[in-house]
Amino acid sequence: MRITVVGTGYVGLITSICLCEMGHTVTNIDIDDKRIAQLKNGRSVIYEPGLQQLLENNLKERRLLFTIDPRIAYAQADLIFIAVGTPENPDGTANLEYLQEAVYAIASHIEKDVIICTKSTVPVGTNEKIAEMIKDMTPSHLNVSIVSNPEFLREGSAINDFFHGDRIVIGTEDEKAAAVLQELYAPLKTEIMVTDTRSAEMIKYASNAFLATKISFINEIAAICEKVGADISQVANGIGKDKRIGSSFLKAGIGYGGSCFPKDTKALVQLAGHVDHPFELLEAVIGVNNRQHTLAVAKAKEAVGELAGKRIALLGLAFKPNTDDIREAPSLTILKMLMEENADVIAFDPAAVLNIQSIFGNEIQYAENINEALKDADLAIIATEWDQITQFPLVQYEELMKTPLIIDGRNCYSLSDIERHSITYISVGRSPHAQSAIARV
Ligand code: UGA
Repeated sequence: MRITVVGTGYVGLITSICLCEMGHTVTNIDIDDKRIAQLKNGRSVIYEPGLQQLLENNLKERRLLFTIDPRIAYAQADLIFIAVGTPENPDGTANLEYLQEAVYAIASHIEKDVIICTKSTVPVGTNEKIAEMIKDMTPSHLNVSIVSNPEFLREGSAINDFFHGDRIVIGTEDEKAAAVLQELYAPLKTEIMVTDTRSAEMIKYASNAFLATKISFINEIAAICEKVGADISQVANGIGKDKRIGSSFLKAGIGYGGSCFPKDTKALVQLAGHVDHPFELLEAVIGVNNRQHTLAVAKAKEAVGELAGKRIALLGLAFKPNTDDIREAPSLTILKMLMEENADVIAFDPAAVLNIQSIFGNEIQYAENINEALKDADLAIIATEWDQITQFPLVQYEELMKTPLIIDGRNCYSLSDIERHSITYISVGRSPHAQSAIARV
């Protein structure tokens, strides 16, 4: 089977490389010639653990071809995966410009029957529009099947998620196309669900919206825990044991970020609004998350008052560990707020410094390692729970900082470990002072 993947972002590149690992030969097309040139030279355009090595292997085995030429990519393809970005419009709706361009290019170049499979996250009804566009543009003897096949890959563990997902969703009204995809994915031994196209599109949005809801819910419970003297780690553990609730996505912190949850929650609110159903619950989830991004600086101000001139070590910049992605990262809000307060910031991240530098330039300083960031700092803010941050010895904060004060936005340390040190430690939903606060009630 000749397979083409459109797009070399997270979804496109991971899909291409993982399909190659399954033994297929894949052509990966992008309109960005610089990205394609870099990939042809064997250098990944995204940071994802394990990806670089797989890229090199599959280029060497000649299973993976990169191109900007739509004729090479589409003319003889049997199966085309669309994995282009659907970024956010200013009003929160999904921008389908890249998707439309891709469909136009496919329709202009296909020469034989083909299955077009959308992996990009698209509003419900989009695949039907793709079908209409293709029908209008291609000769009637060509049989083009349309499938929605949403992805559930997490950045940082995307390769593992491809091979060991919880389910594969194939949304189509075309039984033959569904059978081809079922066969393609069969070796993964993952449960495959065949649904109608619209339901598949909705499964993607509803999954991300539900996970975002879990995070905002636990963050609200954390805020209440601080006030009533409960410990959010114990509470999350306790509720997560209930199988109906589940223990994942119950880590309280300074909120979710990334290229998916913020965008997809807003797009679903817009989608619901367009069919006259205001999605009030999801609007609240988004509101809570926006507030959560401001929490670390609010707590810092509460602890030390004025931040002007204070030396602040910001540990972690990526929206989560194991990625260099800073899209919608809480660190962006934290940095903007700290700049407004005229704080003196030194930031550290194992992977995302270059991306932050392209926005903040030399408004802030950058440290090569955690020790350098903490040296003489008045306070430290932890924004991402990278392993090297969670494993960093607490004694070093005492030794290196001017005043050992940690605002931990990701609850990296246990309170019992903290007790053994002379550190002022403020985390999320685990206020050591809460007991005295409740005593006053
Ligand atoms: C998310 C989904 O988890 C994937 O299933 C989906 O395929 C992907 O979006 C997408 O739509 O493409 P991702 O954005 O890579 O994946 O990252 P997650 O691991 O889901 O984390 C998202 C955010 O939630 C991060 O900022 C993380 O710090 C935060 N989070 C996660 C919490 O604050 N608490 C938690 O308990 C879990």
